[in-house]
Formats: sequence, structure tokens, C-alpha cells
Amino acid sequence: DWTMGAYREQAIAAIRDQVGDAHVICGLSGGVDSSVAAVLIHEAIGDQLTCVFVDHGLLRKGEAEEVVTMFRDHYNMALIHADERDLFLGELDGVSDPETKRKIIGRLFIDVFQKHANVIPDARFLAQGTLYPDVIESVSFSGGPSVTIKSHHNVGGLPEKMGLTLVEPLRELFKDEVRALGTELGLPQSFIGRHPFPGPGLAIRCPGEITREKLDILREADAVYIDQIRKHGLYDEIWQAFVAILPVRTVGVMGDGRTYDFACALRAVTSVDGMTADYYPFTHEFLGETATRIINEVPGINRVTYDITSKPPGTIEWE
Ligand code: XMP
Repeated sequence: DWTMGAYREQAIAAIRDQVGDAHVICGLSGGVDSSVAAVLIHEAIGDQLTCVFVDHGLLRKGEAEEVVTMFRDHYNMALIHADERDLFLGELDGVSDPETKRKIIGRLFIDVFQKHANVIPDARFLAQGTLYPDVIESVSFSGGPSVTIKSHHNVGGLPEKMGLTLVEPLRELFKDEVRALGTELGLPQSFIGRHPFPGPGLAIRCPGEITREKLDILREADAVYIDQIRKHGLYDEIWQAFVAILPVRTVGVMGDGRTYDFACALRAVTSVDGMTADYYPFTHEFLGETATRIINEVPGINRVTYDITSKPPGTIEWE
């Protein structure tokens, strides 16, 4: 793609120009956006880049291993794997308000980056894979009320105390363009085709209080659901698919016994840029088979529902 080829050259020159000899820290989430940003910056400045992958305990099953293998082994990047599960889950303990959760996670991300920035000599920049839709969803009009829809943790001015300047090479791009750029940069298709995953991770798919028990159940259910979608060849038709665990237990019956376990909701949408979305029209056979598998394979869940809300009026995530 000649356009992306030109964008790549331009972006690389701009990064070199902005950064000079200084060191850049990049928060790597495992998502397409931060991955493409990291590879682009790595191409521009090589070992002046250190990536920090924060395991906040809110990742999907197998996620940490996949990301670390890919960037350390395949790309040979300097990568810090920060296991901060106890920190995040500790601070989130007992918190159920969605915006409070996001604020806590955003603040801790900054603290964690700060901690790592402090030990990297010359670290003066923080790279983020912020996209254009993130930028415009967070705009607030002066004089009027804030129209921020959600406080996306990766947008909106870092605290002064951090003393780091933002590098955001994807700020002008939409998701499909980021994927094209990733292809241009040689990232494997299996990685580029991944569904988006939000920075706050499973926290915003676990309405109400977050507990380790719920997170473990959610991870297992999500893995079964994604496996179903892949087996049916639907993964690439869907923009995003995930399970949300509901803050309610309901009664069921299994074998001779009564169960009293969590209900979950399956979510799947099609979208071009994440700003509007339609729910995905699975067949009843697919939904029935998936519900049966989740209930049989995931202890802790005894009821499965399908979310048929489009965006608007819903959002893609549950919080
Ligand atoms: P919503 O739920 O607002 O999501 O319809 C739109 C898209 O944005 C993702 N999303 C986030 N991504 N940090 C992120 O990096 C966030 O805080 C965040 N919140 C939502 C969501 O997964 C969907 O792709």
C-alpha cells in the first residue's frame, strides 16, 4: 500500500525528530494499537525504546505469555514484564463504580510507568497507541459541560509530575489504517487481525465489584467463546467479541443438583472504527452450542445470555 508506505516513512522521520537521542518508554498492552506503535517506534529509534508490558491482572487467558514471546523473542525489543497484579487488584478491591475503576487503573498505569521510567536513563518520552477515535471521543467543549463519554485511560494529558512527553504516532489513524500500517511493518496477520482489547481490560467486562474469582471465571468463559468463534470461522467477520460476567448469581439445575452461579453475557459486534457498532447476528445453533459449552466447561457459570444492543445507544464494552 503506497499510502501506508509513505505514512510509515513520514512517521519514522517525525519520531526521530521529536525524540532525538532520548529514551522512549512504550506501554505495550498486547493490542493492535500499542503493538503497531511499538514496532514503528522501534524501527525509528531501535534500542532507544523500552517497552513496558503491565500485567494488571485484568488480561485474558494466555495474553501475557503471547505478548512477551512475540516482542522479546520475535522482535528482540527491550521489554519489561511488570507483574503488578496485586497492586491493581488490591486498589480495585471493593470498587464498583465504572468511572472510579477507570480512574484507578489510569492512575496506577501512570505510577507503574513512572517507576520504570525512573530507572531508565534518559527516559523523556512516553509512547502510546492512541487512535483518532480515542482523541475525538474524549473532546470536551469549552464553556459547556464535558462530553467525555468515557475516561479512556490512554488519553488526556499526563500529570505534570511525570515529566514525560507523549509520543503518539497513530493519533491521526483509524483502526483499519492502523492494521494496514501494521501489515506494512511486517507484523503477522494473526496479530493484526486481533480484536481490540481495552486498556482497563477485564475490569470493564466485570460490572460491579471485581474479584479474583470472577476474573478467573470470566477468563475461562471468554476463552471458550473465542474458541467457538474461531472454530466456526467467524473471528475475522467480527470487530470485537468477549464475555462479560454479570454481578448476579442465578439458580440453575445440573444433573441432580441445584446450582447457584454467575450469569454471563456474550458480546459480539461488527464495526468499522468502534464508534458505532451493530450486534453480530449469530445463528441460534451457534448461540445454543456456545452456551452449552460454557456451562459445561466453566465452573461458576450456569446461565448465558446474548447482548443484542447496538452502539448507539449501547457502548461496546459494558462499562
Ligand atoms: P465503547 O465501549 O466506548 O468502546 O463503545 C469503543 C472501543 O474502544 C475500546 N475501549 C477502550 N480502549 N482504553 C482503550 O484502550 C479504554 O479505556 C477503552 N474503553 C473502551 C473498546 O474495547 C472498543 O473497541
